[in-house]
Amino acid sequence: MKPQTSLFSGHACGGGLLLLFFLIIQCQCDAHYSAPLRFAQRLIRDLNLLPSIPQDRDQTQDAAAFIGDDADSNRTPRLVEKRIHLPILGDSGSNASVHELGHHAGYYELQHTHAAKMFYFFFESRGKSSDPVVIWLTGGPGCSSELALFYENGPFKIADNLSLVWNDYGWDKASNLIYVDQPTGTGFSYSTDPRDIRFGEKGVANDLYDFLQAFFMEHPEYLDNEFYITGESYAGHYIPAFASRVHQGNKNKEGLHINLKGFAIGNGLTDPEIQYGAYADFALDMGLIGESTHKTISKIYPLCKLGIELCSTAGTVACIASYAVCNSIFNSILLSAGNINYYDIRKKCEGTLCYDFSKMDTFLNDKSVREALGVGNRKFVSCSPLVYEAMIADWMRDLEVGIPELIEDGIKLLIYAGEYDLICNWLGNYRWVNSMKWSGSETFVETNMTSFTVDGEEAGLIKSYGPLSFLKVHDAGHMVPMDQPKAALEMLRRWTRGNLSNEFDMNMLAQKTGNTIHLNVF
Ligand SMILES: *[C@@H]1O[C@H](CO)[C@@H](O)[C@H](O)[C@H]1NC(C)=O
Ligand SMILES: *[C@@H]1O[C@H](CO)[C@@H](O)[C@H](O)[C@H]1NC(C)=O
Ligand SMILES: *[C@@H]1O[C@H](CO)[C@@H](O)[C@H](O)[C@H]1NC(C)=O
Ligand SMILES: *[C@@H]1O[C@H](CO)[C@@H](O)[C@H](O)[C@H]1NC(C)=O
Repeated sequence: MKPQTSLFSGHACGGGLLLLFFLIIQCQCDAHYSAPLRFAQRLIRDLNLLPSIPQDRDQTQDAAAFIGDDADSNRTPRLVEKRIHLPILGDSGSNASVHELGHHAGYYELQHTHAAKMFYFFFESRGKSSDPVVIWLTGGPGCSSELALFYENGPFKIADNLSLVWNDYGWDKASNLIYVDQPTGTGFSYSTDPRDIRFGEKGVANDLYDFLQAFFMEHPEYLDNEFYITGESYAGHYIPAFASRVHQGNKNKEGLHINLKGFAIGNGLTDPEIQYGAYADFALDMGLIGESTHKTISKIYPLCKLGIELCSTAGTVACIASYAVCNSIFNSILLSAGNINYYDIRKKCEGTLCYDFSKMDTFLNDKSVREALGVGNRKFVSCSPLVYEAMIADWMRDLEVGIPELIEDGIKLLIYAGEYDLICNWLGNYRWVNSMKWSGSETFVETNMTSFTVDGEEAGLIKSYGPLSFLKVHDAGHMVPMDQPKAALEMLRRWTRGNLSNEFDMNMLAQKTGNTIHLNVF
């Protein structure tokens, strides 16, 4: 879907400024939350600020998808998990039979909510049971983690005829892997009470923490395994908040101690002020726009920056206003660049998310599959517009601020990015990682990028210092495990094993004389 010309495209800097001030004035008179939220919803619909939001949908359907029916909620225990038995084709790459491989799906009734139930998949490792426990969060906000399960790093993929086929590079080959649909209202997760809608990271992180506690209560045999948080895109917001919540829970001895060792963000949105400043430069570097468009678009940025700064001090309405102004930068690039897939600029945008994920919707809405998963009659929606809109005021919040404390305490952070993604491009991520202040920042900044090799081929460029690593992945867009499945699995394996940058595949390199290691390309 192409963006329509919005109020902000091209030279409309003055209009944006007026709007921003109007909103800030309004903010002072009306601190109540629901008004800005309604305003945000109208803003998005009217201006079509992000092309991925369908314009013609039925709002009552959204509400129904969130609320749903829940006939048996009073009779079920908090966590309901079942083994799933779905036929899978091909070779699992494990000596265990499909029946021995532990595949589970379930619901957890979130403790500190009115009636929210969080849906998840859990796949025991195809390697060793002592492998780390890894949780994956897809972004959106409001997109189901099943997108990653079936199209990126899950144990199996969906064939054209809707059969499941083993994925040779599923992350369950090196970890015990959890996918969770969150915030509530995403994927198969739902509530019977609208008060469970989440508007920001605090609620998101608390729900995830409660989920995790319940998960380990049910699976205490994994409690001593190393635990890693991973995910993509808008999860660049969720992940630091969730990691901080787990770390704080551990420190305060709130519940079960979680053996949190690290968190990884793929093509994430974490520090909007820096990342929105990188859009025009990335687009120019990649030839999506010319010098004059770059100059025009760059004029919007100071206002966007101001809005983001106000978002952190003045609150909700400034956050919504900055969302509008800042995304006009992105939309202007799209208008100039034509029908590109903004998740992979080498491609054209086809389908609502610029890719065709319809097989997943068909598969998950199949009656026999729903029975196997125990989701009843719930309709699966890959991306929830309601959840998206509810999170609008969260978008421009800076989630970098909580990270230094985590890495100072020795919790590892990996930021990785496919080089052809526009929307959460590597350049913006590289810039915020380099400008983050922590005890090792000077050395990190001075460290040169080196080759990240897989089977003797350069799969990316990497730099690491202490707990912090940055990896730029070659030949990949927004969804790195989809585009470079083997390199992505190697990345996970080495990172969780502590070999991300020192494992150089020396034998293979030595055989390849003339294979120059790229140094300091930035
Ligand atoms: C499967 O068994 C064979 C022979 O017993 C062994 O060589 C191989 O490493 C095993 N594979 C896995 C994934 O455990
Ligand atoms: C479905 O597709 C898979 C993978 O292409 C193939 O192995 C399988 O035989 C097909 N099944 C049917 C029933 O056609
Ligand atoms: C990084 O690369 C530059 C230029 O290639 C070189 O001068 C510098 O010494 C390198 N720094 C380190 C720490 O290796
Ligand atoms: C990974 O690193 C550890 C210690 O840092 C080392 O013992 C091990 O051999 C490395 N593994 C590989 C495959 O390089």
